[in-house]
Amino acid sequence: MEKHFAVIGQPIKHSLSPAMHRAGYRALGLEADYQRFEVRPEDLPEAVAGLKGLGFAGWNVTVPHKEKILTCLDGLTEEARRAGAVNTVKVSEGRLIGHNTDGAGLIRSLEEYLTPGPGQEIILLGAGGAARGIAMALAPLGVQLRILNRTPERAQALVQEVRDFGGKAEYEDWGAGEWLNRADCVIQTTTIGLKGEEYPFSLHGIRPETLVVDIIFNPWETPFLRSAQTEGCRTLNGAGMLLYQGVLAWEFWLGGQAPVEAMREALFKELSVNEGRKR
Ligand code: ATR
Repeated sequence: MEKHFAVIGQPIKHSLSPAMHRAGYRALGLEADYQRFEVRPEDLPEAVAGLKGLGFAGWNVTVPHKEKILTCLDGLTEEARRAGAVNTVKVSEGRLIGHNTDGAGLIRSLEEYLTPGPGQEIILLGAGGAARGIAMALAPLGVQLRILNRTPERAQALVQEVRDFGGKAEYEDWGAGEWLNRADCVIQTTTIGLKGEEYPFSLHGIRPETLVVDIIFNPWETPFLRSAQTEGCRTLNGAGMLLYQGVLAWEFWLGGQAPVEAMREALFKELSVNEGRKR
């Protein structure tokens, strides 16, 4: 029987998930389809009930529903509970289970370059929803997190949450600091750069061994990543996180191993078509 999947959000028209997942189904010859639906926040409960009623096997959830959807579900995985947000729902024996693959997706994308673990210092720039998901996925790995944010109270609250879950986190002032000399990895999670804006502070003096990540993938290279390259650092954009959150969602729904290379190829093709940029 054909399985149906989807992504819901607003706006949703530019979502790359359908292309990525469909390529995966084709690669494995699965009878499955993946659609996208624009859902207004006020319609979320009806949309969720509708997807369930129509027999969808699972769906992804994106902005602005990742937190609000929690109230529509029957259960949460540990990852979703820790993140306080859901990006993947599975219908399991009639129950709606919320999961979160964003943080683990980012970690999978880092793993080609670095395996996060004890003794490593990871800097998080930003303390919004994206930062929270990443911090809570990194916390159990024993890394030392340092969290900076324009609004200090949000960074301090996130530090406390990480500590409450047994992780190691420190607050740092928003700006360049001594952390530049110690970081193994810097992860940029704010929205700065989406419109090509320069970063509000410089990475001058950062150790060139540091892996610098920006979770933005459009534009392909933010001014922040370019400034890190000027300092000699290896850099990574958010396309890998997008790929692996999809791969992990696939594996949550269907079990087994997702066809990563087919999904990567489809995603990167869409990205270069949409943005006129090459990998
Ligand atoms: P998301 O879910 O994408 O993380 P969010 O929860 O709205 O979105 O968080 C946006 C992040 O970008 C926050 O860390 C925000 O900083 P504040 O908490 O101070 O608002 C950060 N951000 C957005 N615009 C910024 C700017 N111009 N300068 C510094 N930080 C900015």
